Amino acid sequence: MNNDKLKDTKKLLEEDLKIASNEKELNDLKVKYLGKKGLITELNSSIKNIPNEEKKSYGLAVNGLRTLFNNIYEEKLEIFKKEELNKKISNETIDITLPSKKIKKGSLHPMTLITEEFEDLFVSMGYTVYEGPEIETDENCFQKLNVPKGHPARDAQDTFYLKDEFENFLLRTQTSTAQVHAMEENTTKGPLRIVCPGKVYRRDEDATHSHQFMQIEGLVIDEDVSMADLKGTLEMFCKKILGEKTEIRFRPSYFPFTEPSVEVDVSCFKCQGKGCNLCKQTGWIEVLGAGMVHPNVLKMCGYDPKKYQGFAFGTGIDRFAMFKYGIPDIRTIYGNDIRFIEQFNRKDDTYEVK
Ligand code: DAH
Repeated sequence: MNNDKLKDTKKLLEEDLKIASNEKELNDLKVKYLGKKGLITELNSSIKNIPNEEKKSYGLAVNGLRTLFNNIYEEKLEIFKKEELNKKISNETIDITLPSKKIKKGSLHPMTLITEEFEDLFVSMGYTVYEGPEIETDENCFQKLNVPKGHPARDAQDTFYLKDEFENFLLRTQTSTAQVHAMEENTTKGPLRIVCPGKVYRRDEDATHSHQFMQIEGLVIDEDVSMADLKGTLEMFCKKILGEKTEIRFRPSYFPFTEPSVEVDVSCFKCQGKGCNLCKQTGWIEVLGAGMVHPNVLKMCGYDPKKYQGFAFGTGIDRFAMFKYGIPDIRTIYGNDIRFIEQFNRKDDTYEVK
């Protein structure tokens, strides 16, 4: 009788577990067989009614049933869990057709843009970009550029001086000082072809002058360099930056570190030289200082002026940016007003995030 009951329960249990098609049904079966009033639980508690000599084999058989149930249960549970996970994964695939939020990309500052344009142009002509320090000695900023103490050319370049133990240092007033470093560092004392962009400082402050602004300096040293090379280089430079129709002219000038020295004008790109408010009706706009490197400078920086000549030029990058982009007040360049800076962004320059 007991054996029949065990056999029936085994058969029923196997059928039930076979039919169970999800986790819930499986758990219901657990209650049906192993719950407080479950079939196997009941078989177990009826052991008290079994004659002593059969108790052992009966107990083993009931335990066998429990193990059987648990084994099939675990096996099926694992299958259901896997199925559920797969279902979840396939339901959660990303819908790439969904439009996402657009976030505005930051834009490069106009000074960065124009500096990179200058650098690219000169690098394409075989120059190297060289950056000198902004904190300088009087010697490098002035004396080695042929501007001794008390020289009147210093008046136009008053600057900021450091204090206490750094009182011999100042903020450079011109990128020309980078020439000194480049020449001194060049141990071969051979040819040199560099452009030096960077910040410079002066005690100035109005709509067209800022206490901090940017310059770019060019220096070429070689054994056979002439004014013609300088003119050709600057003509190419101005045409590439300001437009192919741009013409240039040299006016004699004076800089202590060049001899002869020139100031370079470009034909007004607003009126094409006819005369307008930008060029003050002259048709020309002054953009650069330049000249042949003074032999004293070559000598002080370790070069033999009998063997080498060179040309140099320097210009305000801010000034070019103001012309190129039509910026009326230099202070807006350093004002960090996002409405100003983002005008230099390319259109629709956005990227998407989820
Ligand atoms: N350093 C000069 C200035 O700040 C500009 C300049 C003039 C640079 C003539 C040069 C040069 O290299 O040859 O006004």
